[in-house]
This record gives sequence, C-alpha cells and structure tokens, in this order.
Amino acid sequence: MPVLHVSVDDLRPGMYIVDTGVSWIDRPFLYAKEGMIRSQAEIVEIIHQGFAEAYYDTEQSEIKPVEPISFERSDKSPTPLAVASLAEELQQAESTYTDCVKQAKEFMLEARTGMVDLEPSIPLVHGIIDSVNRNVDALTSLSKIKHYDEYTFAHCVNVSIFSVAFGKYLGFDQQQLYLLGMAGLFHDLGKMRVPIEILNAPRRLTDEEFAIMKTHAQLGQDTLSSVKGIASEILMGAGQHHEKHDGSGYPNHLVGAAISLYGRILSVADCYDALSAKRVYKDAIPPSKALSIMFQMRNGAWEPGLLERFIKMLGIYPVGTPVELSFGFRGVVSKSNPASPLRPVAAVVRAPNGKMIDPPRTVDLSKHADIKITQPLTAGEASDIDILAILKSSDEG
Ligand SMILES: [Fe+2]
Repeated sequence: MPVLHVSVDDLRPGMYIVDTGVSWIDRPFLYAKEGMIRSQAEIVEIIHQGFAEAYYDTEQSEIKPVEPISFERSDKSPTPLAVASLAEELQQAESTYTDCVKQAKEFMLEARTGMVDLEPSIPLVHGIIDSVNRNVDALTSLSKIKHYDEYTFAHCVNVSIFSVAFGKYLGFDQQQLYLLGMAGLFHDLGKMRVPIEILNAPRRLTDEEFAIMKTHAQLGQDTLSSVKGIASEILMGAGQHHEKHDGSGYPNHLVGAAISLYGRILSVADCYDALSAKRVYKDAIPPSKALSIMFQMRNGAWEPGLLERFIKMLGIYPVGTPVELSFGFRGVVSKSNPASPLRPVAAVVRAPNGKMIDPPRTVDLSKHADIKITQPLTAGEASDIDILAILKSSDEG
C-alpha cells in the first residue's frame, strides 16, 4: 500500500487517510481516523483539533499525491518551553490559585441573585495563562494538591487551569487561551441556580435530583447571555461542557463536530477534575487512576484522539502524583517524560524500611531501568507525604 506522510496543512478532499497503527503515546498529533476526507470543512475541523500530520494511501485516494513532507516539518510539537522551574513557579502559582478560588466563590454566590460580572476575573485568567506559560506543571499539580471543602468553587478554577493548559498544548493562541480560561472559570455558573440541598448533597443524587442538576448547563449559558458583548466561546463552554461526542450528553444531545472545540476541551477538563477530586461522598482518586477511567470511557465521550492528547500532555503519572516505586520506595513525580511517560522523574522521599529520605533524592526513572513505578498511592497512603513542600524543593532532575 503506497502510503505518504502529509502535514495537515496539505490535506485535501479526496485523500484516503490510513491508520498506520502508530501509538498515540509516540505521536499524539498524528491524525489517524481511517477513511476518505470528503470536504474542506472536515480538514478545518482536523486542524482545529490540533492535529499536525497524517498518512494517506495514494491508491485509495481520489486525487493525485502531493509532495511528501519530511517528519520534522510535520511534527510541530507544541510542547511549551518552561521559562521557570517548577519550584520557582509554585511560589507564585499558590497565590494565583487562592486568589482565583476566592474570586470564583464571589461570582458564584453572586450568581444566586441572577447577577454576573466577568470583569474582576479577567486579570485572574491572565494570571493563570501567564503561569501556564512559565511552567504548566505548577498550577496543574497545585490544583490536585489543594483540597477545599467548597468543591464547587475550586472546581471552576481547576477546569479553567486544565482547559488553558490543554489549549496551550493544542497550539491555541493567547486570545483563544483567554477565552478558554474564562469559559472554564464560568462553566458551572448555572449550578448556583440549582437548589442548594441538591448541589451540596453529601451523597450520590437520586435520578430526579440528577435531572434537576443537569439543568445547570443551560441555566449557566442563559445567565451568561445577559452579559453585554460576551464572547460566544464562553457561552458555548457553559452550555456544552456536558455534551458527548456520541450524542449521549446534555442538554442538547449534540453529536461530534456540532460540539464546539471549547465545549469539548472543557468536557475533558471537567471530567478529569471531577473524577480525581475529593468529595464529601468519595475520596480523591489518584490522577493517573482518573486518567485510566477516562481512557476506558473515551469512545462515546470524546472524538478520537482528544483524550489521548490530554493524557500525553499531563503524563500517565501527572506531576505531583505520589507513587510507590520498586523495592517499596515511595516518592512524588516531579517532572513528566513525554518520550517515555511511564518513566518520569521522581523525588524519592521514603525508604522501604519507612525511613524518610531528607532531602528527597531525585531519580530520573528513564535512566534507571531497575526502578519503576509500581502503583500510584491513594490520598490515605500518601497522607504523611507533604507533596507541595517536596515539589517546591525539587530540582526536577
Ligand atoms: Fe457542569
């Protein structure tokens, strides 16, 4: 089968895309949904989703081959260059994070009266973008380390953070990141118009209660619509963050490309934060476990490739994950390794005999074939590990 490699910029209707079986772990920006490309709109959609390259079969295609491209040209890896170390950025990110949660609480409580003011949140979203630009691991790890009793408010901030980080990874420009950040921050505004006894129920909801809870997506969009000149991307984020690729979501059962890219990104960020969060009725789930649950549900929920790229961005063991290592050592992931996601850098803090290792020893697992991560630790198992302090003193290998 004569297969040629092509940049997404050179895709044309009539090309037959093939799935070469290359792992998304190795090539997260490879578009590999097998079949004929039928329209220019389809190509625009592929580019919008952040894909960079594809392979097509010249025999099955209806058009003549274009000049093949070199791998270097197509692999426009958008992995950001950190301009601050994790330890440095955490110092600043902590106040950015607490300021955001404080502001989220303010605008969410105000929304109970039907009022909404976006203005005070604008500099805070810029603060999130600036931090993500300097070192994405600071806010993404912080959001999983800090535990607030008032989940609803911290969740708004966390979805904003993960949406901005993911948008950056997918190659969004600064204005798009701003819209994503605002959409993330305000995505659950409608929850404040849901009766408080349902919103804060310390248990799983009944079917009737869940039906009422589901109205929050439309209610949020309606409330935000009253803001003069509000960007449609922010409205779509609120209204579409529970839609699913296969049409099984709500409120409008939108299918596939009918869901805006903003709605899709928010959906991934929302699901990740909700699954991994500690709630009154459930313990926090380790980030890597949350990602593996999402991986199992990916087919109906998101278009092919989207979740895979989110996992590629965070790493299979995201930074800040407490882990058990070979021989019974314990540590905290301090730097991901995109080339070998199962072998990140870890700060080893506890010896097999239970003794603390102080200061922690930084081990690059990609350079130690004899040591591997055996499992992530639950919050209970890691309760004696001060993850934030370890990351603040980490030298990242
Ligand atoms: Fe929601």
